Amino acid sequence: MSPVTLTTLREMKRRGEKIACLTAYDASFAALLEQAGVELLMVGDSLGMVVQGHDSTLPVMLADMIYHTRCVRRGSKTAFIVADLPFMSYASTAQAIGNAARLMQEGGAHMVKLEGGAWLAETVHELSARGVPVCAHLGLLPQSVHQLGGYRVQGRDAAGAENLLSDARALEQAGAGLLVLECVPAALAQQITQSLTIPVIGIGAGAACDGQVLVLYDVLGLIQKPPKFSKNFLQDERDIESAVRAYVKAVKTGAFPAAEHSFR
Ligand code: KIV
Repeated sequence: MSPVTLTTLREMKRRGEKIACLTAYDASFAALLEQAGVELLMVGDSLGMVVQGHDSTLPVMLADMIYHTRCVRRGSKTAFIVADLPFMSYASTAQAIGNAARLMQEGGAHMVKLEGGAWLAETVHELSARGVPVCAHLGLLPQSVHQLGGYRVQGRDAAGAENLLSDARALEQAGAGLLVLECVPAALAQQITQSLTIPVIGIGAGAACDGQVLVLYDVLGLIQKPPKFSKNFLQDERDIESAVRAYVKAVKTGAFPAAEHSFR
């Protein structure tokens, strides 16, 4: 299989082919996931919770992200790798440029992801202008959990929905190449997906997004209290690779997420 690029992902959106994405934090899983058909690997700062045992993503440091991204990159031959810029590592545009460069040069990321709305447009523009592909992240922003007052669905009222739509447009306009939409009502996610030309990857955002991402450890049933939008794909399969193949198939056919994994 030839390497997945941003062009591949854009073409998939154009053709209506769903993009299968999972988080990955190490070389062995990176190799297994892409072998099972996952096109997009996200080295998420969720590793702070599922690998490091913190109760949020806030304690994750840039050095942690570089380390795990490097591990994933070593295990991967073809997947497109997106790595999170952790909390406060992109508080200014200058910081974002320096830290994104490290994630790409030292970690081997193909793209960096940052959480936030239109206030990040200038940063996204400056990164893109320097050849750094950027994935925006809207909706529930885990790095802002204390400001949001918990892990809650976003964009349920008219004003919140309008803000999300205009943030998404502003970030695309600024040069973002992908968008992650987390925990937003399915109808709103559909509207955002249809109004952007860049691929939209949903997590708790309904089936109309161009692709889906889940935290790998939720898919494998390792988390005690998994979120409503996730699914344990291992419970009906004989091994991890079959579980990941089942996830990929469910994403590609539109069987996942079902209504029970989505919000209204
Ligand atoms: O941190 C993370 O793992 C993420 C993805 C689930 C989108 O942001």
